[in-house]
Amino acid sequence: MKKVFSLFLIVSFTMLSLQAQLKADHLLTENLQDPVGIDILQPQFSWQLQSGERNVQQSAYEIQAGTETAALVKGEGAWKTGKINSDQSAHITYNGPALVAGKRYYWRVRVWDNKGNTSEWSKPASWQMALLQPSDWKAQWIVPGVDDSTYASPLFRKQFSYSKKVRSATAYITAHGLYEAQLNGQRVGDAYLAPGWTSYNKHLQYQCYDVTNLLKQGAAVIAVTLGDGWYRGNFAFDNKRNIYGTDIALLFQLDIVYADGTKESVVSDNSWKSSTGAIRSAGIYAGETIDARLEKKGWTLAGYDDSKWDAVKTADLSKTVLAAAYNEPIKKHETIQPVKIITTPKGERVIDFGQNLVGWVQLKVKGKPGDSVKIYHAEVLDKNGNFYTENLRGAKAEDIYVLKGNEEEIFEPHFTFHGFRYAKLEGYPGELKPENFTAMVLYSDMKQAGSFTTSDPLINQLQHNIEWGLRGNFLDVPTDCPQRDERMGWTGDAQAFFRTATFLRGVNNFFTKWLKDLSLDQVSTGSVPHVIPNPLGDKGWAAGGSAGWADASTIIPWQMYLVYGDKRILENQYNSMKAWVGYMQSQSTNDLWNKGSHFGDWLFYTMADDNDGKSAITNKYLIAQCFYANSTQLLINAAKVLGKNEDVATYTALLQRIKDAFLKEYTTANGATMSNTQTSYVLALQFDMLPEALRQQAADRLVANIREYRNHLTTGFLGTPYLCHVLSRYGYTDVAYTLLLQQTYPSWLYPVTKGATTIWERWDGIRTNGEFEAVTMNSFNHYAYGAIGDWMYRVMAGIDNEDGTVGYKQVRIQPHIGGGFTDVAASYDTQYGKLISSWKIANGKLILQTEIPANTTATIYVPVQGDNEVMESGQPLSASKTIQTTGKEKGYLVVKVGSGKYEFSTNYNGK
Ligand code: BGC
Repeated sequence: MKKVFSLFLIVSFTMLSLQAQLKADHLLTENLQDPVGIDILQPQFSWQLQSGERNVQQSAYEIQAGTETAALVKGEGAWKTGKINSDQSAHITYNGPALVAGKRYYWRVRVWDNKGNTSEWSKPASWQMALLQPSDWKAQWIVPGVDDSTYASPLFRKQFSYSKKVRSATAYITAHGLYEAQLNGQRVGDAYLAPGWTSYNKHLQYQCYDVTNLLKQGAAVIAVTLGDGWYRGNFAFDNKRNIYGTDIALLFQLDIVYADGTKESVVSDNSWKSSTGAIRSAGIYAGETIDARLEKKGWTLAGYDDSKWDAVKTADLSKTVLAAAYNEPIKKHETIQPVKIITTPKGERVIDFGQNLVGWVQLKVKGKPGDSVKIYHAEVLDKNGNFYTENLRGAKAEDIYVLKGNEEEIFEPHFTFHGFRYAKLEGYPGELKPENFTAMVLYSDMKQAGSFTTSDPLINQLQHNIEWGLRGNFLDVPTDCPQRDERMGWTGDAQAFFRTATFLRGVNNFFTKWLKDLSLDQVSTGSVPHVIPNPLGDKGWAAGGSAGWADASTIIPWQMYLVYGDKRILENQYNSMKAWVGYMQSQSTNDLWNKGSHFGDWLFYTMADDNDGKSAITNKYLIAQCFYANSTQLLINAAKVLGKNEDVATYTALLQRIKDAFLKEYTTANGATMSNTQTSYVLALQFDMLPEALRQQAADRLVANIREYRNHLTTGFLGTPYLCHVLSRYGYTDVAYTLLLQQTYPSWLYPVTKGATTIWERWDGIRTNGEFEAVTMNSFNHYAYGAIGDWMYRVMAGIDNEDGTVGYKQVRIQPHIGGGFTDVAASYDTQYGKLISSWKIANGKLILQTEIPANTTATIYVPVQGDNEVMESGQPLSASKTIQTTGKEKGYLVVKVGSGKYEFSTNYNGK
């Protein structure tokens, strides 16, 4: 007995000490895990603390960084911070000796906490520097040796040999167009549609690949295929070619370090050969044609005879616009098998993948030489069940494969992508068997951030649709839609969805890169083009400047700062933010911005037969004035963070004048807005346009308006993101829930009831009678209305920053019970770790489970009814020595906690 007891003691003691062990992990460099290719001269580091204890705060850290892991372990890193007393564990800037192009560095960290624990050194993380200046490029731009006016994809080939043992090898690649590279017959990296899309003539990203494993001793072959892509393919509305240039070109540098320390570079130059192969044409809208009979067999391997290939030409193209890719590359993610293979009433053979997605179909096929298989793509079937592609407008979205024949062949495109759920097959030899078709889903490889589930299956489907809206439209740039002849970085859509996107994926690097292009493409007047990157030119309409669209330039940087707490985004974008506010100022008379062309509250509720004025039209200049005020406010916020006091004073005075002008022009003395629509109240309230005394009545008018439409929203792109937030802020969360749960048109759930698997562009893409909306604009994968996701995370589940703080270091958890939900569970990976808020109502009890990451604190609002007692992990909260209760506030008990897991429970009536 005694023995068993002491064994028990030993076991529990070891478990306790294991639990208490403090650890630093999740080391990230520039928000990425062990990135290869960074051209930031002083990269930032972050890490997370793990501990089994509650209330853990970092009290100090120490970092070592250097070029050798072994040296780090011995404590001989090139940069040693020593012990720094600080609770900062995100965005620590490297401050050691100058970093060298192409070099790999390692770093590790150890931490101390507020309880006297010290962690072990973390496992080392690494990062590799990219090329840091144009002169680091020894490669020359090369173009095909012969006229390429057929637009068949050019192939580039270089064979070389080396005899020494390779220690490391890095490939730096970019193109005018898109590229896919192979080394010794193996694919270099797993990025697709590289180098992605930027404002090419001002900013062209290259990717860096560690290819050490692909280099074998002896002969080596570099093989690169290019596609037209965004650079010179048909693109942007009128489908014109050569938007960025007429050339298709490659820049390739392979830097090899041998085991003996010597170095060699194999670079694109006039010794390379070019030809064409199986890819006969590839366009983003059009699709791809591959004729397998024209494949150059074995061209990616040594020994292939390229003597008949053309010599390439070198081209004097810019290297000063080059930058190492900052955002995650596009990668293949989910692979989806057919759920059904159908024959439509028209006799079409159609595969249903069950999910509207973005990517392409990979198919296996066996047939005769010259057999030609065509795949068409569609998002929906029409009401008769036939394949429907009219809403793709000018995008043919058609892949054609011509078979080599006789053996099984596998096809997939390389330089296009499609938005589809259904694929129609023509010319496929033999039966359509599900196992021969796989939909490959492609999007930028951002880490998943959040999860959100509830007791309501329709709301879960809505959440699913929001997530798939992101997957389908975050393909290197945030696009409006992925299927028709558009697919551009519409600024309004991006700003509307931005905050929701942060809950779904880690979008820091994705938007940092996009905002860089926004600044670069901003017009000299300060106007921000409608789409970024901007392939539309900067004259007339294309110069942009639409309220709610151009404001992406202020809204996104500011929101990014709130979410990630990294000031650099404000530093980088400040001039752009200020220029945009300057533009609005220049367009205003007496501080009233009532000029220019605006999209307004795009796609708001309208009726086909609007005899008594039911359509919810909000005056465009009223909207413009609200966004003018908001952007000015965000500029003031940024100026405060950056210590630009003069600007704070100047723009604070301007803001007051903008609001005064708004009141005078657009509101009655009693505070009714001139348009009297939901969006007009939502914007006026969200942006604090009204004096305090007029706010509640405006919220009441908003609710009255919602009631008039029998509990329906009528908002478009600009009002929708803030609608439920405003309702909650003014005490109408119940009305927000009613809107969220509304199933009839217009509502978020109406498309769900119609079988949507993504968010639709319009509230009624498929009308109640089963007819489609106008073909000119009817996308079934447009994320803007998915902006409700932000309210679901921040209000329903209640995960937010504490007021006035950033980056989720001080968190507020304030769930909002309602809507008949009995279960809402959300998690969100902050830079400090996983944050959880999950509430349940069952058997007359409410249970709120939360998890607060180490090195953060939280204020938790526990919903309580009356004086009901609150328990925490089974103990009366009132008796807790570590959890501080700070009082009661409108149906909540407010408690302050440190990190750890908590479970609050209390008696609770109703749902
Ligand atoms: C796009 C939108 C965009 C709009 C501008 C449309 O064609 O698809 O989402 O914001 O134009 O009003």
